[in-house]
Amino acid sequence: MNELNFASDNVMGASAPVIEALVAANAGALPAYGGDEITARLTKRFAALFECELDVVLVATGTAANALALATALSPWGLCLCHSESHVIDDECGAPEFFSHGAKLVGLPGVGGKIEAPAVAAAVDRLPRHEKQMPAECVSISQATESGLVYRLDEIAGISEVARARGLWFHMDGARFANALVRLGCSPAEMTWRRGVDILSFGGTKNGCLAAEAILVFAPELRKTLRQRRKRSGHTLSKGRLLSAQFEGYLEADHWLANARHANAMADRLARGLGALPGVRPAWPTEANEVFAILPRALDERLRRAGASYHPWSDLSLAAGEAVGPEEVLVRLVTSFATEETSVDALLAAARTESGATA
Ligand SMILES: Cc1ncc(COP(=O)(O)O)c(C=O)c1O
Repeated sequence: MNELNFASDNVMGASAPVIEALVAANAGALPAYGGDEITARLTKRFAALFECELDVVLVATGTAANALALATALSPWGLCLCHSESHVIDDECGAPEFFSHGAKLVGLPGVGGKIEAPAVAAAVDRLPRHEKQMPAECVSISQATESGLVYRLDEIAGISEVARARGLWFHMDGARFANALVRLGCSPAEMTWRRGVDILSFGGTKNGCLAAEAILVFAPELRKTLRQRRKRSGHTLSKGRLLSAQFEGYLEADHWLANARHANAMADRLARGLGALPGVRPAWPTEANEVFAILPRALDERLRRAGASYHPWSDLSLAAGEAVGPEEVLVRLVTSFATEETSVDALLAAARTESGATA
């Protein structure tokens, strides 16, 4: 195993309580297609966690969760506004458009992967209102964003007000929901439906599950067709308990929150260490479990020679006036529930040695 692997939060397997819950759920015969008692228990658990009535639809990938959630909120001729670098528009191979049978995603600019309420309002209000044009029907945000930032509660409320006033549904891509939640220190309800979120992709895979994501539907009007959409898209597992058991282990004794706190703490440690190196500066503040840094090219090359894995990243979401120089690279390093302090320190030691400072 590569100790210096910061490529993503899904390079690690699942955490122990998730595997234990899966093993326990493996025994014996249970009704198929989510008709089992584990799935029924989980639905009640999510309702208690979010302090409301909701519908819970489980899938195995974040793309399926986002695409099916958006397809539910969009007609085939509808528009969904999102950030221009969001996962739904950039990294899902057109799945939301495919499963909605033709809806379009419209990318808005914004620093750090965030869209802002006034920009959403302006974009919607500028749209022609003739039957020849596609109407806006939905807004989608990622919490945390693809640049590792966390929307504050008033920012979420501001977008939801704009959406509600214009009759749009409000979707949140929570692939890193737990990381954002523990950073804000609020409740799941406060970060979602109490701020106007109608439908949420609640991520598990990046934070300790093997492969489990939940579509949580707060708006009753959006509950009607989701199960048919999931089946039709081939995302209904016949052994549904394999998804619900993962979430049982994940949610038990606040394990998911502990995982996210650990991942965020590792990212903070990494960001502090990198920020202290000559020539290194943050691209965006570290607010969840991802560190985005602008490195001197020579340091990047030497870190890679030392065996470090991480990805180069786009500079489109940088703040005005910030730019990546010709001898620099913008990179993303991701920590997870399983990242060890010794790995962070080993990467920093390699970076310090390579940059000429004392290791
Ligand atoms: C913001 C965001 N949304 C959704 C996903 C889920 O994607 P996948 O279909 O790979 O599980 C990811 C994974 O990279 C992500 O970063």
